[in-house]
Order: sequence, then C-alpha cells, then structure tokens
Amino acid sequence: MDLVELQEIGEKELAARKPIRIRVCTAAGCLSSGAHDVQKRLEEAVEHANLGATVQVCAVGCMKLCCEGPLVQLDPEGSLYERVSPDQAPSIVTGLNGGAVTARRGDPGRPFFARQKPIVLEYSGEIEPERIESYIAAGGYRSLYEVVREMNPAEVIDAVTKSGLRGRGGAGYPTGLKWGMVAKNQGHHKYVVCNADEGDLGAFMDRSVLESDPHRVLEGMAIAAYAVGAELGYIYVRGEYPLAIRRLETGIRQARRLGLLGTQIFESPFNFRVDLRIGAGAFVCGEETALIASIEGRRGTPRPRPPYPAGSGLWGNPTLINNVETFANIPVIIRNGPDWFAAIGTEKSKGTKVFALAGKIRNTGLVEVPMGTTLREIVETIGGGAPDGGKIKAVQTGGPSGGCIPAEALDTPVDYDSLVHLGSIMGSGGMIVMDQTTNMVDVAKFFMEFCMDESCGKCIPCRAGTVQLYRLLARISERKATADDLARLESLCEMVKLTSLCGLGQSAPNPVLSTLRYFPNEYQALLRDDARAPSPAT
Ligand SMILES: Cc1cc2nc3c(=O)[nH]c(=O)nc-3n(C[C@H](O)[C@H](O)[C@H](O)COP(=O)(O)O)c2cc1C
Ligand code: SF4
Repeated sequence: MDLVELQEIGEKELAARKPIRIRVCTAAGCLSSGAHDVQKRLEEAVEHANLGATVQVCAVGCMKLCCEGPLVQLDPEGSLYERVSPDQAPSIVTGLNGGAVTARRGDPGRPFFARQKPIVLEYSGEIEPERIESYIAAGGYRSLYEVVREMNPAEVIDAVTKSGLRGRGGAGYPTGLKWGMVAKNQGHHKYVVCNADEGDLGAFMDRSVLESDPHRVLEGMAIAAYAVGAELGYIYVRGEYPLAIRRLETGIRQARRLGLLGTQIFESPFNFRVDLRIGAGAFVCGEETALIASIEGRRGTPRPRPPYPAGSGLWGNPTLINNVETFANIPVIIRNGPDWFAAIGTEKSKGTKVFALAGKIRNTGLVEVPMGTTLREIVETIGGGAPDGGKIKAVQTGGPSGGCIPAEALDTPVDYDSLVHLGSIMGSGGMIVMDQTTNMVDVAKFFMEFCMDESCGKCIPCRAGTVQLYRLLARISERKATADDLARLESLCEMVKLTSLCGLGQSAPNPVLSTLRYFPNEYQALLRDDARAPSPAT
C-alpha cells in the first residue's frame, strides 16, 4: 500500500456514494431500541420504491443523543428523525418523493448538537464503522502515512508533547512525556496497549468510540508504536462490549488485508500487529499494572509502582499504556498539527473531552466539548437540565474514584485541575446527574458497595476498609448510627485513602468525603434521634 493506493480507495468510495444517504445509528444504544429492524425496513423500502440507484442506507456509529434512539439522519439535506420505529421507517423513504413522514422529526440545530465540538467524535455517526473504505474516504490512515514516511519517531513524540495532550483514562498524565519514556527505555521487545476496560459506573465513551470509529483507535495505536519502537499492540477490552469487540476484530482484519497493519507498512521497515485481549469485567483490571498481569495470563491484581509500565510492563518490557480516547486524538493531532490542538481547551488541559451524560437529565448521551467548558453548560444547556421540571442537586463525575459536585458549583470549568479543588475529578468522562429526589447517603453507599465488591483484596486497607465503610454507611441509612459512627466514617476514609496500594482503594472514599462535605445535613438527619447535633437555634 502506498499513498496513491490509499487515495484511490478513498476516491472510489466517494464516487460510489449515492446522492442521498440515509444514515442509521447502529451503536449499542440505538441497537437496543430496535435500530437493526429500522435499518432493514429502510432498505426494503428503498428497494420497493425502486430508489436503489440514488438512495443508500448506511449503518453508522453513535449520533450522540442516545435517549432519542433509534436515530436516522438524511444526507445531504440534514433532516433528523428520532425514536424511529420499524413501522415508521418506510415513511422516511416515501417522504423523499413528497409523501408524509410519520417518524418524529428532531432538530439537528438544537443546543445538544450545536454546542458540542466533535474532534474525537468527528466521524461518529457519519462513517460506517464496519467498512475501512468509509474511514479512508474521510481521510483515515493519512496521518499514519505522514508519520511513517515523512517523520522520524522523535518528531512524532515532539508533536504529541507540543499538543499538550494528557491521558484521557483519568489521571491526566502528559501523553508525549509517557511516549518519550517508552521510546528511551530498552527491552527485548516493546508493546503498545490500549486500555478499553472502561469500568467506571455510568461511563460509555470508550465503548462508543470503538463501536463508531474503530480505525481511528487502530491508527492512533500504530502511530504510537512507530514513535516508541513497538511491533506488537494489545487492546484490552471488556467482555461486556461484544459489539465493540466485533467491530475491532473486523477493523483489524480489514487493516491487515490492506497492509495498514502487519509488516512493512506503507512500504517502510515499520511492522505493527494488533491483538485483542478480552477482560472479564473486573473494575480493577483497568488499573495499568493489573491489566498487564491479566494480559500475561495471571490474576489481574495491581502491584506497587515503580517500576512503571513505561520501564517494565508486559513480560518486563517497556510498555506504553494509553486510554481509547487518548489514542483517538492522535490522528487528528498529526493531521491538523499540535498548535491547532493546543489552541483548544485551557492552559493546562488541552483539546476536548468526551463525556457520557446519564442519570436525572433530559438528554442522555455523548457530549464532546472543549476542556474548560462549565458543568452548567454541559448539564443544563447541552444536557437540557433535569427532566419533568426537576432541579439538579449534584453531578457525580469521575466514577467511583470521583465525587459529587453540588449544584451551587455548576459554574466550575471542567478540566483536570478545577474539579480536584471541589473534591472530585474529571476522570475518564462519566457524568451522573442527580436531582432533588436523590438521597446523597444512598449515593455514597452505592459507590462504596461497588468498590467493596470490586476490591481485589490484595491489600488490607482497601479489602477490610471498604467493608467497614460500607457497613458504617448502611448503619447510617438504617438510622442506627451515632455521631461517633460519623466521625469514624470520616477518619476511616482518610486512612483508606492514604494507605491503599492502588488507585481503587486510594480513591474509593471520594464519593463519601464529597457528600459529607457538601451534604452534611443529609447524614445528620439520618443519625439516631439521640445522636443528632443540636441545631444552632435550640
Ligand atoms: C481501579 C482503576 C481502574 C482504571 N480503569 C481504567 C479504564 O477502564 N480505562 C483507562 O483508560 N484507564 C483506567 N485506569 C487508569 C489506568 O491505570 C491508566 O492510568 C490509563 O490507562 C493510562 O492511559 P492514559 O494515560 O491515556 O490516561 C484505571 C485506574 C484504576 C486505579
Ligand atoms: S487498593 Fe484495593 S484494589 Fe487496589 S490492590 Fe489494594 S485491595 Fe486491590
């Protein structure tokens, strides 16, 4: 494969495109509400109306507004249809000839779409994720060509460093710095690993990216492999994501067939192969050292760091581990340049972030906005606020490692640093909205139960501490706790945070501490009658 052949594939794909495209979202959300049947009925209707020469039905990825699925959109005219049932679908085709459309029209210009800035999701809902030609026609694999044929590894690392990209898996470690360390470290082999374990409660960003644009992640991994000197990559993806797994398998097969993965990529000495490893859904396996153990076939438990995977990862070799969204940013950074990327976002948090909006919110789905966008913009303007006239009470960010941010702090910009001051983290992008009906002690108990169940048991503070914390929270919600129990809860939280071995235990107390900080009255109100603090008025 050379550049001319790559361009020819793209041009052929564009030339074969029919004047009208009916795009149907076939990501997991819309499929679960019947998108497959909608697609079938649309195809039948096109055939029945004898429109095959001018109209094509395309199975695309996530169109972001998951709560209104199945979603269908027309190109080039732009009409959007929501909650399309299989029976309504044929009317969209008859509508092309002036017939009445019974499917519900949506507004593609509404703030949910208009206020977003798709970079990682630029092709999501546009291209066909199961066809590599569709990705190539959109400009895919051009960045890999540029890197392999026109740049040396140090220049690639320099570009990623200059862009200011930081890891999207939660910790926000500078990506260029990590790549530089793996490149510098010596080993028999080097590996690139994509962390697609996505265990955070309420998070579905990585799943959507893999289901909607798998080649983007493969291209990002191949660029990384070239930069650090690796020849083998693994994608560690959770078994609960069968569609993402299938589309990745298809993508890898297609890329190999075209010589975009494998040996002598773009007729250069660069070789790179990618394999999948399927996780069994243990949250702790997303932690990088546990993930390495799991890929090696051992039990997935964390180990102390250092050594870090960049120096000693898979089978003791230098290993680059990045999150799905981190890799998905790479092709566009190469295409548009690091300065373009660094101009988006805030001083210390560059680019955009994809969030999964869920909970008590009108518009559940995927949201991509520049770093530094306020929580209010995300949950009220884009998310549409609480449903049924409710009032937002808090937003939980960062999954089990994060915290609950009260409505009074909604004007805080969302980036790596600002939410930390509020006792939470941006994390990997899960955002669960709570309204006035939510009991915050129940929320803390729910997250603690998750951490207790998911603790690997290797270290005592987390193994025993999460159980103790859960029992104290249960006592409080059963109205059996005293003021001493509340004090014990707080000091135990500090102990578990300070002494646990890995991030799971170190951050498990965050949902408790943040709810104690912002909603102390809800805890006080549940103490035994004789234990409640006297109110200042008495
Ligand atoms: C308990 C736990 C679970 C984690 N789960 C994930 C995960 O599902 N996906 C992910 O990318 N990072 C996860 N991480 C963070 C990884 O350890 C690691 O920092 C990340 O994959 C590095 O990629 P990045 O630099 O691109 O963010 C988890 C960390 C902990 C402590
Ligand atoms: S903190 Fe928890 S999950 Fe992490 S090693 Fe210790 S017991 Fe395992």
